[in-house]
Amino acid sequence: MTVYKTLDDLDPAGRRVLLRVDLNVPMQDGQVTDATRIERAAPTIRELVHRGARVVVLSHFGRPKGRREPSMSLKPLIGPLSEALGGTAVRFADDCIGAAAVSVVSSLGDSDVALLENLRFHQGEEANDPDFAGALAALGDVYVDDAFAASHRAHASIEAIARLLPAYAGRLMQVELEALSGALENPARPVVAIVGGSKVSTKLDLLANLVAKVDRLIIGGGMANTFLFARGIDVGASLAERDLANTARDIEARARDAGCETLLPDDAVVASRLSAGIETCIVPVSEVPSDLMILDAGPASTARFADCVADCRTVVWNGPLGAFEIAPFDTATVALARRVATLTEAGQLLSVAGGGDTVAALALAGVQDRFSYVSTAGGAFLEWLEGKDLPGVAALKN
Ligand code: 3PG
Repeated sequence: MTVYKTLDDLDPAGRRVLLRVDLNVPMQDGQVTDATRIERAAPTIRELVHRGARVVVLSHFGRPKGRREPSMSLKPLIGPLSEALGGTAVRFADDCIGAAAVSVVSSLGDSDVALLENLRFHQGEEANDPDFAGALAALGDVYVDDAFAASHRAHASIEAIARLLPAYAGRLMQVELEALSGALENPARPVVAIVGGSKVSTKLDLLANLVAKVDRLIIGGGMANTFLFARGIDVGASLAERDLANTARDIEARARDAGCETLLPDDAVVASRLSAGIETCIVPVSEVPSDLMILDAGPASTARFADCVADCRTVVWNGPLGAFEIAPFDTATVALARRVATLTEAGQLLSVAGGGDTVAALALAGVQDRFSYVSTAGGAFLEWLEGKDLPGVAALKN
């Protein structure tokens, strides 16, 4: 049952809708280098425009720490946002509160769109300051949150504001929450989690939460080396957090107690260093030469992981299986991603993935659109995997 209101519960016609989105997109020299987040924000804006709202778009960009930082202005996003809206004009206010904002918002007619300057130019945003939230709220009649990617931040435009205005989830937030709850709250079983990336130390809470929820856990990437080492395997010159061996053993023990099967690579692609064109070979993980390092899961492991996934009904994926940025160490990640995509398309699997590196790895494999859902959220997706209450989601439910 949906415990938050959506756009289906709102008649936005003629009303000033404060729409919080996450336009924190990668930029270089004033140009957007990846417009995915803008494109994902567009459907909600288009719907509100179509339904006659006066749309006031709010976002943060970068971490200006409460100061006006010209390189972090949202102004360069006017063009890309207008383009994502099929050419709809986007007005801009060079402050998100005060006279500049009031003037632009009061100039809006029905179905017009305005973008306000970076929320984080004001200290009140990150401080979740009620006065700053009040100044924002004065610009609108209702509040719509479409920024799942920022929902782990208890900031004024996400948390405090939802207590001041009637609050609704936008379409992107709604889709994201539905996908996430389908994957871990009420999943079709068996559920497998694929967790990779270089360091186990950054994913301890995530692993502790997942082992209690999933039936199988595939561990890959550099963090698998720590688990192999903890099992008494000599991983040679591989990256491993050897001081976390006890922690890794504890996670495996918790998994066993919860009835979750842990799968680690049993063969590996090794090389003397991480470098393009370097000589590689495939060895069982128990035979890694002392001067070589594991840089990817081997073909036997990849096949075993693929078989494991094929037996499951739900997969949650965060983190690559190898050093995917440099070929050929992307091989296992790409092969498994394509298998997941094929099973998803065949209707056998619900697949949800997220996190910065994961999205880049799936894009490399060309499967970003072939999973059930790929979240563009980084930190928020990780905190959700850790089982944390996200302030932005909690605010919508209150
Ligand atoms: C993100 O890019 O993950 C979100 O926009 C949150 O950004 P932040 O980590 O600066 O709060």
